[in-house]
Parts: sequence; C-alpha cells; structure tokens
Amino acid sequence: MSKNRKSRTRNWAGRQSRDVYVRKARDAGYASRAAFKLEEIDRREKIFKQGVTVIDLGAAPGSWSQYAVSRVGSTGRVIAVDRDEVLISGVTTVCGDICAASTLIELKSNLSGNLADIVMSDMAPDITGVRDVDEAHFEHLLLAVEQVIDEMLRPGGKLIVKLFQGTAADAFRQRIDKRFERISARKPASSRSKSREYFASCTGFRSKSASSSRLQTTADT
Ligand SMILES: C[S@@+](CC[C@H](N)C(=O)[O-])C[C@H]1O[C@@H](n2cnc3c(N)ncnc32)[C@H](O)[C@@H]1O
Repeated sequence: MSKNRKSRTRNWAGRQSRDVYVRKARDAGYASRAAFKLEEIDRREKIFKQGVTVIDLGAAPGSWSQYAVSRVGSTGRVIAVDRDEVLISGVTTVCGDICAASTLIELKSNLSGNLADIVMSDMAPDITGVRDVDEAHFEHLLLAVEQVIDEMLRPGGKLIVKLFQGTAADAFRQRIDKRFERISARKPASSRSKSREYFASCTGFRSKSASSSRLQTTADT
C-alpha cells in the first residue's frame, strides 16, 4: 500500500472511531451511520407511512433500507438496489448497476405493475478527484434517478435524493423543479461538515404529462 493510501486509511479509521454516529449506529444495529441522515429528514418532513412501497437506490450496506422497513411496517415494501449485495431482512434486493437497462427491468418487474410511493437515492459516484470527471459520473447517476422516477414513481409520490454541490446537482434541480409540488434541501446534523453532500426532499410528484400540461397552462395565463 502507498504511503498516501496508508495515511488516508488511518485517517478514516481514526475518524470512524471518534464519530458519535458510528457508535450510535452500532448500538442501534444499523448497517451504517447513514441511517441518521434519513431519520432526521423523516422527522422533519414526515416522509414515511405504514403500508407504502419504497425504492432505495444505492442501498448497500443497508441502513436506509433498515430504517424504511421499520417505518413502512409489515404491510409496506422496500426494494433495495445496489451494485453490492444488500442483506437486510424484510427487503427485496436487486443487485446491479442502476444505469444498466437490465437492472431497471429487474426493478420494474419487482413492482409487479404497481408504482412506488417513495424513491430514495443515497448514491455517490466513485470519486476520482478530477472535478469534471466526478461531475460527469454524478450526472449519469442523477439521470438514472430521473428515469426511475419517470417510470416507477406514482403521481403524488416522494423523492429523497443525495446531491453534491456542483453543476450536476444544479442541473438536476432545475430539471426536476417543475416535476414536484415542493422541494426542500437540507444538510442533516449527521452529515459530515466537510462533505459537499446535502439532501433534497421532493413531494407531490407530477408525472411528465401532468407537468407539461401545467407548464402549458402557466404559459397560457
Ligand atoms: C453512501 S452508500 C449508500 C449507503 C446506504 N444508503 C446505507 O444507508 O447503508 C452509496 C452506495 O451507492 C452505490 N452505487 C453507486 N453507484 C451505483 C450505481 N451506478 N448503481 C447502483 N448502486 C450504485 C454504491 O455501491 C454504494 O453502496
């Protein structure tokens, strides 16, 4: 291992052992500290209800799915998608790259002709350190999120999506602005202050046809 990599690994391990949310996650039986970000968003925005169907994009190791399962109860459903395996009890898993057509087909077939009430994405691109390349990778992931909401989210449904400050997130927010009744952005307390991540919670999804007829009406007035 290179000297730089060794020191990065040491820094990460040191940060983890000092991090209060890592300890809280271990005590609560969560697969990762990310659960607390979703918990805070839910506490403020009242995202989940018993009985709803949730798609969790970029779900591994699985703490968002664990939290979602606890909120939707036995009458709800959580479908987790990731390139890595997700092994969480009570969760249906689709293993694959969300940008691949085969993954979208498998995800859709798991909905058995129904639409999801909530889509959430905690996906992050593999960081290269080259800003333009990372932005392009993130843009690619956000286009996949858009495809999922267009094809699988019910009218009136909700989206929670992790964004990173930058051009890809700005363009995404412009594109989805008219697609939801309300969008709010927040950085939960458990999100590391150095990270450029923040989360958009979007409610009142308008299907493509509904939002284009609304645009038409607005233009006519
Ligand atoms: C920050 S982690 C998610 C943590 C998760 N929300 C939790 O609570 O445990 C981001 C995940 O996004 C996944 N991911 C990134 N790009 C992806 C892609 N193209 N298709 C599927 N999953 C992807 C990664 O494999 C990784 O597991």
